[in-house]
Amino acid sequence: MLVRTRKGWELPESAATPESVFLNRRSLLRAAGFAGLGVATHPAAVLAQAKDGDPSTKLYPAKQNPKFVLDRPVTEEKYSTTYNNFYEFGTSKYVADAAQKLPIRPWAVKIDGMVAKPMTLGIDDLLAKMPLEERLYRHRCVEAWSMSVPWTGFPLAELVKLAQPKPEAKYLRMETFKDEKVANGQRGGFYNWPYVEGLTMAEATNDLAFMATGVYGKPLPKQMGAPLRLAVPWKYGFKSIKSVVRFSFTDKRPVSFWEELQSSEYGFWANVNPDVPHPRWSQTDEEVIGTNKRVPTLLFNGYGEFVAGLYKGLPATEKLYM
Ligand code: MTE
Repeated sequence: MLVRTRKGWELPESAATPESVFLNRRSLLRAAGFAGLGVATHPAAVLAQAKDGDPSTKLYPAKQNPKFVLDRPVTEEKYSTTYNNFYEFGTSKYVADAAQKLPIRPWAVKIDGMVAKPMTLGIDDLLAKMPLEERLYRHRCVEAWSMSVPWTGFPLAELVKLAQPKPEAKYLRMETFKDEKVANGQRGGFYNWPYVEGLTMAEATNDLAFMATGVYGKPLPKQMGAPLRLAVPWKYGFKSIKSVVRFSFTDKRPVSFWEELQSSEYGFWANVNPDVPHPRWSQTDEEVIGTNKRVPTLLFNGYGEFVAGLYKGLPATEKLYM
């Protein structure tokens, strides 16, 4: 069993969450009698369970796309699958066990809004239509830690093509499941569930925007957002919404889960920039999970060649880096 003590780089929960939210949540948890309850994590069990009952196992591993390479080693699976943010299952990083309650078959994906033909399809039907490939991506959380992850999945642009958005569609809004019977974190009414995220159409169809369905050559484990999660590596990790059930094409800019909670700290764009600090901590560098080393953070998390052009000519009032 992996026993972890907090290292210097692990921000206390009070620093990683808007303070008012943290304080309110603590008192809510205390009132509900939950404070102090630890979640035990058993990495071996978690890794084994990730494959259970998943008919897509045969699709993995997929061929690696050599266009997306790393300047650092891939994070060991034992770290990336046991240190997660998935608030639906609690506010601790050790939610892997709790997340195993999420049923991922059947899993319906709804595509609606400003599209030629709204549709709902099962995840395995969607997978059958999509070209799967592996990509090595950096993954930078707003809390100043990072990992390097071998995602398998398909370009988000392929899903956009399938949806056939109308010309009026300017944004893609994505939504996570909502089921407080399986997701203990969705009980209590403090957060505004479901988790929502959004991209502009230009971002959603950018080469880098990727829908991950697997990792480490296997289907995604539940704690990493099975069966379908976004990976937009030039943005802070909170944009990479997990366990998506709905893609809506719209002309209104979506207000995301974190933006709604604390818009002074978490915005729509959330592009990584070491020179723009979070209101409560620096973004100049990041702890690489599993190494005990800090490295300098890069503008757009090092992906400027792919995405910098997306933001040219936007009004100066847009807060591109929060
Ligand atoms: N998606 C949902 N539905 N719920 C969440 O709590 N957390 C976000 C993002 N996507 C989150 C989510 C945050 S803050 C981060 S850093 C990444 O997921 C973490 O992804 P990982 O656990 O696979 O590293």
